Amino acid sequence: MYRIIERRMIVPNLHEFIVEAPEVANSIKPGNFVIVRPDETGERVPLSVADWNREAGTVTSIFMQVGASTAKLARLKPGGEIPTFAGPLGRETEIQNFGTVLCIGGCYGIGSVFPIARALKEAGNTLYTILEARSAYLLYWQEMFKPLSERVIEITRDGTSGYKGHLARLPEIIAMEKIRPDRIIVNGCTFQMMKVSQITKEMAIKTMVNMNPIMIDGTGMCGVCRLSVAGKTKFACVDGPDFDGRDVDWVEFLNRRRTYNPEEVYPLHKSGCASHY
Ligand code: FES
Repeated sequence: MYRIIERRMIVPNLHEFIVEAPEVANSIKPGNFVIVRPDETGERVPLSVADWNREAGTVTSIFMQVGASTAKLARLKPGGEIPTFAGPLGRETEIQNFGTVLCIGGCYGIGSVFPIARALKEAGNTLYTILEARSAYLLYWQEMFKPLSERVIEITRDGTSGYKGHLARLPEIIAMEKIRPDRIIVNGCTFQMMKVSQITKEMAIKTMVNMNPIMIDGTGMCGVCRLSVAGKTKFACVDGPDFDGRDVDWVEFLNRRRTYNPEEVYPLHKSGCASHY
C-alpha cells in the first residue's frame, strides 16, 4: 500500500496528489508517468508526474477530475492509502540544450510540464513559459516557473490575466514577445496540444506533446493506448508518451479517447457525483 501525503484541490477540478513511493521517486525522470488505482476494485488511471522529492520519497501529480475513477481519486484523504502506484512508466522527455525552448502548459499540464521545464533550464536552454486557462482563477504554480523562465506569459480565454484568447494566438504572441523557439513542448488537454501542433506545423517548429490516451497496463501489452504517428502505429505507454505533435493523427486519437465516455458518465450519475459536472 502507498501512503497519501496530500490530496487537495488547488484550483477548481484540479487536484494536487502527493504519494509516498520511494522507489518511484528515486528513479523518476521528466516526462515519465505513473499508474494508480484508488482502491482494490478501481480501474488503473495513468497520471503525469509533476514533481518529486527523492529524499522524502514522494511523487507529486496534478490530476483533473473528469470521470468516475478520477472522482474516486478526488475523494482520497491525506493519511489514507492506495493499493497501486506503478512507475516510472514511459520514456523520459528528451532533454538537451536545444537553444530556446518554449514550454506551454494548460490544465493538469501546467503541473506535468514543470519538471520538463526545470530539466531544460538545467541543460542550459533559454526558457519561456506560456500558461493557458479559461480564466485567471484556474492558473497555478506561476511562481515555480518564474525562476526558470525568461518570462512567464499567461493566456486566459476571458482576459482576466495576460493575453485574452487562446493558443490560436500563438504566432502573434511569440512575435510580440520576440521569442524564437527552437523547440516547443506542450502538456495539457488533447485539444490544446492538437491546436498548437497544427499551428507550429505551419511555422516548422518541432513540437513535442505528451499524449494522454486511455491506458490499462502501461507496459505495452494491452494495445489500448495505440495511436498513429507519421502513419505508424505506436503505443503511448512504451513508445511515448512524448511524440512530435505535428505527426500525430489527432482525429483518430480524439475518437479513441471518447470510446468510454458513456461508461464514465453512468457511474458518476449512479454515485451521485455527477452534480459536480
Ligand atoms: Fe497497454 Fe499501452 S497501456 S499497451
